[in-house]
Amino acid sequence: MHVRIRGGGHDYEGLSYVSEVPFIMVDLINLRTINVNVNETSAWIGTGSTNGELYNTIAQKSKTLGFPAGVSPTVGVGGHFSGGGYGVMLRKYGLAADNIVDARLIDTNGRILDRNSMGEDLFWAIRGGGGNSFGLVLAWKVKLVDVPEKVTVFTLDKTLKQNATKLVHKWQFVGPRFHEDLFISILISRLNTSDPGDKQIVASFNSIFLGEMDRLLPIMQENFPELGLRREDCIEMSWIESTLYFAGFPRGESHDVLLSRIQPSTRYFKAKSDFVLQPIPEGGLEGIWRLFFEDEAQVMFSPYGGRMDEISPSAIPFPHRAGNLYNIQHMVYWDEGEDEVAERHINWIRRLYSYMTPFVSKFPRAAYINYWDLDIGMNNMKGYTSFVQAKVWGIKYFNNNFDRLVYVKTKVNPSNFFRNEQSIPSLT
Ligand SMILES: Cc1cc2nc3c(=O)[nH]c(=O)nc-3n(C[C@H](O)[C@H](O)[C@H](O)COP(=O)(O)OP(=O)(O)OC[C@H]3O[C@@H](n4cnc5c(N)ncnc54)[C@H](O)[C@@H]3O)c2cc1C
Ligand SMILES: *[C@@H]1O[C@H](CO)[C@@H](O)[C@H](O)[C@H]1NC(C)=O
Ligand SMILES: *[C@@H]1O[C@H](CO)[C@@H](O)[C@H](O)[C@H]1NC(C)=O
Ligand SMILES: *[C@@H]1O[C@H](CO)[C@@H](O)[C@H](O)[C@H]1NC(C)=O
Repeated sequence: MHVRIRGGGHDYEGLSYVSEVPFIMVDLINLRTINVNVNETSAWIGTGSTNGELYNTIAQKSKTLGFPAGVSPTVGVGGHFSGGGYGVMLRKYGLAADNIVDARLIDTNGRILDRNSMGEDLFWAIRGGGGNSFGLVLAWKVKLVDVPEKVTVFTLDKTLKQNATKLVHKWQFVGPRFHEDLFISILISRLNTSDPGDKQIVASFNSIFLGEMDRLLPIMQENFPELGLRREDCIEMSWIESTLYFAGFPRGESHDVLLSRIQPSTRYFKAKSDFVLQPIPEGGLEGIWRLFFEDEAQVMFSPYGGRMDEISPSAIPFPHRAGNLYNIQHMVYWDEGEDEVAERHINWIRRLYSYMTPFVSKFPRAAYINYWDLDIGMNNMKGYTSFVQAKVWGIKYFNNNFDRLVYVKTKVNPSNFFRNEQSIPSLT
């Protein structure tokens, strides 16, 4: 029997709760204790907790501490931190995994280890090497980060008629170079109008600034005046309110919504990821829009730069650092359960992925492990992957860190007890 570990259950390929061979699922839902130590600006977090539970607990203890993890409150810290984990503060503080300072883990022999007893190799591997590979993480200890009492958020939607293409093109030059307090991501989708002749592309510029509006406006005026940001577009709020804002809750909603583990909208979807090192020309962007007219899809561009450029690509297994301008997540959605429908949409996103080839990272074509994608290499559904097979996707997710991950895996888990379709292989 295989062992599958489930934290928040948000795995993109369902690897925490689906397998073609009989398996036992270890569900961590009850390991949800979070202890925030304000004096030490740290927290121990049970790995069954969600991001929302973490944010809410921190905010109850302090108005000026936060944590740089993902946007969706229902995502679990078990899988999320195991694969890196990024959110709207990554330009200032890096990934969630960059801020882990200790962990408690059960190894294959049933021993409970901490940073000291597991040693630096294993402690390195679990901070980004992907879940269900090295052991079962019971708790993370993280360093909390400073947030100002007031942050500023804005969302500006631009259609093609409002120069969306030019603005997205320009963003590629400024988004990754702004002051690290400023994060502007872009969600590009096809507007879903009932009239099939009136399809529109909308680029939604979503932003948080770790400071007040009066400091943000001149930065925008100087670096990105074309976006036309006005004072009335901006809202000042506390950091915890901004986590609700990014999760799509209306202003004034109780913070308790962060504690819900129910994903508000559940639809079928398939996602893929890319990293961009050179700005995509306007003509290249227009090709994406053309494909968008064929299916209900979204792409999200998340800027790098700032702190992400300063951290060495081998500091933790997540290798996508300096040189990357931004990360792309491609997504396609549908509602019907039939296989033929799924196949049609999945084929469409594979076409989009193929279209993107000239514009994104090459040798390897990099991918983000938390957006697991079983398309990008050969997977053995029985859970055994040879080193050579695994290396195909291994270097996409981990680049030069893959060999060290295999070394650690072989040392700590030679029998491949913790495994899934894309877990790190053991050489024995
Ligand atoms: C709606 C949504 C929003 C998202 N937003 C973001 C975002 O803003 N930023 C971002 O970086 N990513 C984001 N993601 C991706 C997310 O980081 C991954 O899906 C992540 O792996 C989810 O972790 P989980 O614990 O919820 O999932 P699970 O399915 O429980 O786990 C994912 C993987 O990790 C393993 N695992 C889980 N817990 C443990 C543990 N304690 N020890 C060892 N292995 C474990 C599982 O076996 C599985 O292989 C999002 C995903 C979704 C569905
Ligand atoms: C935090 O520090 C203050 C002042 O130094 C001290 O009085 C308090 O006991 C500390 N609290 C904890 C939980 O350590
Ligand atoms: C679009 O850009 C052109 C110049 O490049 C400018 O003249 C025009 O005002 C812009 N349109 C909008 C809606 O901003
Ligand atoms: C898009 O439109 C279709 C048909 O009107 C509808 O079924 C679907 O739910 C809509 N999707 C979104 C995200 O609103």
